Amino acid sequence: MGLICPVCGEKLNREDNRYVCARSHSFDIARQGYVNLLPVQQKHSLHPGDTRQQVLSRREFLEAGYYAPIAEALIETAKDFGISGQILDVGCGEGYYAARLSDALGAPLIGMDISKEAVRCAAAKYKGKLWLCATASHIPVEDGIAALVTSLFALTVPGEFRRVLRPDGFFFQILAAQDHLLGLKSIIYDRLDFKEKDTVPELPGFSRVMSIPIRFPFTVEGQQVQNLLSMTPHVYRISKDGAERLKGTQVLTDTASCVLNVFRRA
Ligand SMILES: C[S@@+](CC[C@H](N)C(=O)[O-])C[C@H]1O[C@@H](n2cnc3c(N)ncnc32)[C@H](O)[C@@H]1O
Ligand SMILES: [Zn+2]
Repeated sequence: MGLICPVCGEKLNREDNRYVCARSHSFDIARQGYVNLLPVQQKHSLHPGDTRQQVLSRREFLEAGYYAPIAEALIETAKDFGISGQILDVGCGEGYYAARLSDALGAPLIGMDISKEAVRCAAAKYKGKLWLCATASHIPVEDGIAALVTSLFALTVPGEFRRVLRPDGFFFQILAAQDHLLGLKSIIYDRLDFKEKDTVPELPGFSRVMSIPIRFPFTVEGQQVQNLLSMTPHVYRISKDGAERLKGTQVLTDTASCVLNVFRRA
């Protein structure tokens, strides 16, 4: 599987229900089917990454299909570029996009996230994939194993992503655009600050092949309004008044707007 020990960097070998390195560092495969490869020294808080509540909200929202056009764009683009081979999704969350991409391409998947709750949720639903609790800054896989690395609404660590990619590998990055979820933002904030956002970044060690805008309207009702808030970073920034206003919102029509950047190893 190409895993390496997050403590010493030696190759990990599977032994029954655990992975072990030559120096006897050992990592159990959890009952739900994921492997925790996040040692304490790479943890910067007790429960890093998204909380259980955020993970469950994202699961309920994505499962309802509101963001299916994003999954479709990923699949179509991967097929257009003829990508086949190992996929590695960094910051995979509860696994919605990565599992669909892997199934559509018939390609093996490693999904990793720093949130144990996220990979637990992913592993419980999507079988036959490898789900890891690990950090993007120390990806516990060998050099050059991935045909495709993806980071979808998650962080980008160019050096690590380049290291794990095959020389002919691709990196797909999805970034929220300036006008993403303006409907939600205009309810929860008193005024909207327009900070210029770079949605087509230059990445060291990569060349950008193309950038595909993805933009579509959708309407959520009832609990899905709260789920939408909960899966965005706005859940941390919302004011008490903003939260009250959103509670009173039964139906919300909004626009999802993001950019799919396709990079190759330079
Ligand atoms: C906005 S969510 C996106 C999840 C998923 N890609 C999706 O679009 O549904 C960002 C994810 O990045 C994870 N994350 C945050 N810091 C991370 C890190 N250092 N390494 C790996 N994952 C991280 C969070 O736990 C969260 O699941
Ligand atoms: Zn080790």
